[in-house]
Amino acid sequence: MKFFIDSAEPEEVREACDWGLVDGVTTNPSLIAKTGRPYADVLRELCQIVDGPINAEVVAEEAATMVEEGQKLAQLDPKIVVKCPLTVEGLKATRALCRRSIAVNVTLIFSPLQALAAAKCGAAYVSPFIGRLDDIGQDGFCLVEQIVKIFKNYSFATQVLVASVRSPHHLLRAAEVGAHIATLPFNVIKQIVKHPLTDIGLKNFLCDWNKTKQHI
Ligand code: G3P
Repeated sequence: MKFFIDSAEPEEVREACDWGLVDGVTTNPSLIAKTGRPYADVLRELCQIVDGPINAEVVAEEAATMVEEGQKLAQLDPKIVVKCPLTVEGLKATRALCRRSIAVNVTLIFSPLQALAAAKCGAAYVSPFIGRLDDIGQDGFCLVEQIVKIFKNYSFATQVLVASVRSPHHLLRAAEVGAHIATLPFNVIKQIVKHPLTDIGLKNFLCDWNKTKQHI
């Protein structure tokens, strides 16, 4: 399973990379806006830090301009994956960008048939937003299970990139249902490695070791 970090903040991306837990990055217009920096500058910096796909979303709402934006984003770096929303215009743009050999992650997916439509249009990735389904009392993992099963049924190469992950439990469920990738906020990455019994066990090991007065 691949871990992407869901962040546009280079410093936290750099730290998570140092932990060996980052295979790529996803951004979205809200995360970019939060940086207060020019979009292209942020993307170029992220491309310097991470040896993997860097997802950058178009902001136009009609296909022709989405394609223009997608081409501009893709020209920044070979690592750039263009994100298009799952709208009719987004599907049209996805087909056009794929025909130009530009990898597309179709985002804001909330149903299995949306994911199927994106795969049929050549998407390299689909991003089901599980946290936002949980927010309205629906089971985001039922959706992920359905998408994984449908893609297996028809041998789609499209990868399921679980997004809107809010907790380690979300990541666990994503791994259990066989999602290819999960994109994780830095706070979730931090929580993955922490366990109180690990801290207690290590403290006791070192306490006993220190009594020996030895050094390695
Ligand atoms: O970046 C896409 C997705 O991960 C957004 O997550 O928490 O804003 O629903 P969230």
